[in-house]
Parts: sequence; C-alpha cells; structure tokens
Amino acid sequence: MFAESARKPLAGKKVLITAGGTVERLDPVRYLTNDSSGKMGFALAAAARDFGADVTVVAAKTTAKIPDGISLVRVESAEQMLEAVLSRFEQSDLVIKSAAVADYRPVVRAESKIKKSGDRIMLELVKTTDILQTLGERKTSQFLIGFAAETGDLDHYAMDKLQRKRADLLVANDVSEDGAGFNTDTNIIRIYDKDGLVEALPIMSKLDAAKRVLKLASERMTQTEA
Ligand code: CTP
Ligand code: CA
Repeated sequence: MFAESARKPLAGKKVLITAGGTVERLDPVRYLTNDSSGKMGFALAAAARDFGADVTVVAAKTTAKIPDGISLVRVESAEQMLEAVLSRFEQSDLVIKSAAVADYRPVVRAESKIKKSGDRIMLELVKTTDILQTLGERKTSQFLIGFAAETGDLDHYAMDKLQRKRADLLVANDVSEDGAGFNTDTNIIRIYDKDGLVEALPIMSKLDAAKRVLKLASERMTQTEA
C-alpha cells in the first residue's frame, strides 16, 4: 500500500494541464502567437499519468509529441482556452497552467484576408482574460500551479505572480539562460510558494523537472487533505 502510493502519488486525482502557445487571429490566414513549444506541459502530462492521475491537457499551438494515455482538448485562442479550462475546473484536483497565454488579442478579427493598404497601419489589441487569475478567484479545493517564463528578476516576478493569481505553487524559469528556453528539452526551474523560494533545481530534462514539480504538489495536496 505505502509502496504503491509512493510510486503513484497522484492515483485517483484529476489533473488538468494547459500547454502550448495561444494563437490570436487577425484574419483567416494571419495570427499573433509566441515561442512556446508545449514541451513542458506535455512533460507534466506524461509525469502526472505515470504518477497515476487521470490527465487532461488543454493544448494550444504545440510542436511537442503527444504522450499516450491522456485526454487531449485542442484550442487556439486564449478565450477558447479559458472556456475549456473553466468547464473542467470544478471536477479537477490539480490544475497546472503551463501554457503561454497571449496577453493581448486583436480587437477585430477580419472575416476575410486583410488587403495591403497604406505604408503604416495600426493594429489595435485588447487584453485577454487572465485564466490563472480567474481560477485563483474561483478555486475551492483545487491545487493551482502557475508558470512564469522571465528574462529578468525571477524571484520578484515569480512572487508577484503567485500572490496576484493566488497560486499554491509557481514554477519560474529564466528563458534567457542556456538550457531553459522555449523549445528546449531541458529546463532550469525555481519553485515558489507563498513564503518564498522552495526549490532551485539544476538543469535537468523537462520530464525530470515535471516529476519534481508533481512530487512536491502531491505532498502538499495530501497535507491539505489530512
Ligand atoms: N496566464 C493565464 N492567462 C493569461 C496570461 C497568463 O492563465 N491571459 C498564466 C500563464 O499560463 C502562467 C501565469 O499566468 O501560468 C504567468 O504567466 P505570465 O505571462 O508569466 O504572467 P503575466 O501575468 O501575463 O505577466 P507578464 O506577461 O507581464 O510577465
Ligand atoms: Ca503574459
């Protein structure tokens, strides 16, 4: 029994993960997106599956290999991701927001291809809904993990996001560091909780980093249940 729970620390848990970069369309052939590959999100999905969880991934644009044994929900935009996540939030035990969600989307999405006109044109953008923050406001018993890819003062930005979005854990990485950027197979992560830095991990595969994050989450989830 104890051996089984050590090997499958998320047995019986429903885990919802977002992955990839959202796509915000300007017209039928053009869009705004970002460099997220979705690799960290799918590494988390594979690790959570191996830990015994029932895993659903809401994925926007990704180049990652999709692991077996998980449920996949495809979305494009931040608004579609919000809807897909909210409809599954209540029945989830653990939600991990590793997707790179666009902060802004075009105000107008043209029905037909935008034709070339003047030498300069203006593109008006409007803020998207912050999905993690919305979940933080609505959460009851769900354990929430946020992500932050930064290029500056990691500790400061990570703690600010954790508090603002009411996440239980925040996983941050400096994307300007070698081996920690988008689309790499490795990561160098720092994990924070409301009291500050919990773990600063050395460079390792995204799968190993995912296991460390989930191990910590599963321990903390058990503590709050007890
Ligand atoms: N996030 C989200 N919805 C958004 C923007 C971000 O759910 N519209 C989530 C991300 O999935 C991530 C966390 O919030 O888990 C932090 O994202 P990040 O882009 O680092 O933070 P922002 O608050 O958008 O701040 P900034 O981009 O200015 O650093
Ligand atoms: Ca952002």
